[in-house]
Amino acid sequence: MINIIIFCVFVTNAYGYFTIPGKCPENVAVQEDFRLADFYGKWYQAYHYSSDGQNLNNCSTLELMTRPSGIYLNQSRIDRGLFHRYSIGKIEIPTRVEGAANLELIFAYKNAPRRLKTRKYPFKVLATNYNYYATVYTCQYSPLIDKHFMYVWILSRNPSLNVVSKELAMKPLQQFGVNNSIQRNMVKEDRNKCVPKYYDDVPLEPMTFRFPVPI
Ligand SMILES: *[C@@H]1O[C@H](CO)[C@@H](O)[C@H](O)[C@H]1NC(C)=O
Ligand SMILES: *[C@@H]1O[C@H](CO)[C@@H](O)[C@H](O)[C@H]1NC(C)=O
Ligand SMILES: *[C@@H]1O[C@H](CO)[C@@H](O)[C@H](O)[C@H]1NC(C)=O
Repeated sequence: MINIIIFCVFVTNAYGYFTIPGKCPENVAVQEDFRLADFYGKWYQAYHYSSDGQNLNNCSTLELMTRPSGIYLNQSRIDRGLFHRYSIGKIEIPTRVEGAANLELIFAYKNAPRRLKTRKYPFKVLATNYNYYATVYTCQYSPLIDKHFMYVWILSRNPSLNVVSKELAMKPLQQFGVNNSIQRNMVKEDRNKCVPKYYDDVPLEPMTFRFPVPI
């Protein structure tokens, strides 16, 4: 019974989340000769695109960190100007050198039912010059409703991104079509309320990878 309820909630939510018809784009071109070591340090989210039209990641930053068990990504955000939140995902590094920028992120949920304990999402670096900008992309497909969700980060080493870097960062998005909805619906990050009212540094589920399993 509970399973049925969970499933229904799940499917209802999925309709709002997966909105673009069909599968994820194939053969997405990524940054050539990607060097993970140069990607370390803090990145500010300067612009983002979320295909479900939600804007849940104000003042977001991304930062790689090394722990004894591997390389992790710390994705942080400020919730409604009030709370500081972050999520930690483990980075899985591709074994093939040609596809070095085809990273994957693994999130672990200790208290989840067994088949939901770990969730893996693509995290592809489409372009970067390491010092100014980076374009990162993820996509999730739901076979059940035959639709996908896409999220694009335009990242900047500085809180604001200069015009030239922005142009370079947007360029790889042309592979999704010349006047595509990603470019048109790119949201500039609002950095006005980046000092949270309450300091509450707790790990939470990531807002950019909201869907637990491929369904
Ligand atoms: C993640 O990043 C945020 C913002 O930089 C920081 O406040 C938080 O402590 C970091 N979390 C971990 C576990 O390093
Ligand atoms: C992000 O900022 C926008 C504009 O200021 C605001 O409407 C929205 O509620 C904020 N979202 C979060 C999750 O803080
Ligand atoms: C793309 O959009 C621009 C501005 O809206 C327009 O001038 C141009 O014709 C469009 N190109 C295509 C291929 O649709």
